[in-house]
Amino acid sequence: MIETLKHLEQEALAQIPNLKTEQEVYDFRNSVLGKNGSLTAVLKGIKDLSPEEKQSVGKISNELRDRLSAAFEARLTGIASERVAERVKIEFEDVTVPYPEKPLGKAHPITRALFEVEDSFKRMGFEVLESKEVTTEYLNFDAVNVPASHPARDMQDTFWLEGKGNVLSTQTSSMQNVILKSKSPPIRVIIPGRVFRNEDIDATHENTFYQVEGIVVDKGISMANLKYAIRTMLSDLFGREVSIRLRPGYFPFVEPGVEVDFSCPFCSGEGCRICKKSGWIEFMGAGLIHPNVLREGGLDPDAYSGFAFGFGLNRLVMIKYGITDMRHFQNADVRFLSQF
Ligand code: PHE
Repeated sequence: MIETLKHLEQEALAQIPNLKTEQEVYDFRNSVLGKNGSLTAVLKGIKDLSPEEKQSVGKISNELRDRLSAAFEARLTGIASERVAERVKIEFEDVTVPYPEKPLGKAHPITRALFEVEDSFKRMGFEVLESKEVTTEYLNFDAVNVPASHPARDMQDTFWLEGKGNVLSTQTSSMQNVILKSKSPPIRVIIPGRVFRNEDIDATHENTFYQVEGIVVDKGISMANLKYAIRTMLSDLFGREVSIRLRPGYFPFVEPGVEVDFSCPFCSGEGCRICKKSGWIEFMGAGLIHPNVLREGGLDPDAYSGFAFGFGLNRLVMIKYGITDMRHFQNADVRFLSQF
C-alpha cells in the first residue's frame, strides 16, 4: 500500500506543474484529495491492515496529503503571478516617456509681451488700467488738445460711430483725461488697449492694433524720468541694457514732444537688418504732458508736470521676434501662433 501511495504522489507531483488554470488545479486536486479522489480510494484499504501498519500508513498518508496540498497551493500562487506578469506585459506603461502634448491653447504673442511689459512697469510702481475701445470724440480728441478744426484730427483716420460723438478709440491717449480726472498725483499708470484706425492694411499697417499708454504726473517730473522708465522696460523686455535716444516730434498733447528710439538690442548699435543698419530702432511718441491737457484734466500745470508716452505693442512684438508682417497677429493661424 505504501508503494501505491508513493506512486500516486509521484504521478500527482509530475502533473501539477502542467495545470494551466485555477479551475484545472481545483479539478485535479479534487480528483486526488477529494472525497471520491484517488488517495481516498487507496486509503479505503486501510481497514484491512494490522494496527501497526495502520499507524505507519496513516502517518505517511497524512504527510503525503500535506505535501500534495502544498504543491497545489504553490501551483495556484504560480498561476496567479503568471497572470499578473502577463497583464504587466500587455499593460505596461513607461512612465518616463514624455507626456503627449495636449492641444491646449496658449496666450497670443501680443498678450505675452503685454504681460512682460506690465510686469516691468509694475516693478517700477505703475498701476495697470485697461483703455476703452469705444470712446467719445471729446476724450479721443478735444480733451487731449485736438480741437475740432485742428488738422491733427486727420493724423489718425477715425472710425466714427453712429449717434452722438462716439468713436472707436484711435489711440490710448483717449484715456489721458479719464486718468487725470479720476486720480490725483502722484499718478503712475500704464493703459494697454486695442485701438482702431481706418487704414488700408499692409505688412506694417493694421486697422486694429494694440497700444500701451503711459502717464506719470507729479511735482517736478521731467524727460529724465521718461527716459529712465522706458529704458528700464525695454531692457527688461529684451533681457539686455538698451539706451534711449530722443528726437523732436509733434503730438498735440505733449510739449515738448519727442520721438523715442532705442539702441538695437540685436547688434548693440553696430547696424543690422533689424535696425536697418542704423543701430537705432524707432519706437514711440512721447513728451511732457501739455499744460492744456493737465488743465482739462483738472490739474494746475504750474504745480504739476508729467510725461506721457504711447507705443504700439504689435510693433514691439514684431521687433522682438523678427516678425515681418503685422497681418499675422489678427489672422488666428496656428502655424504662426504656435511658434511663440
Ligand atoms: N497717441 C500717440 C499715437 O498714437 C502716441 C503718443 C502718446 C505720443 C502719448 C505722445 C504721448 O501716435
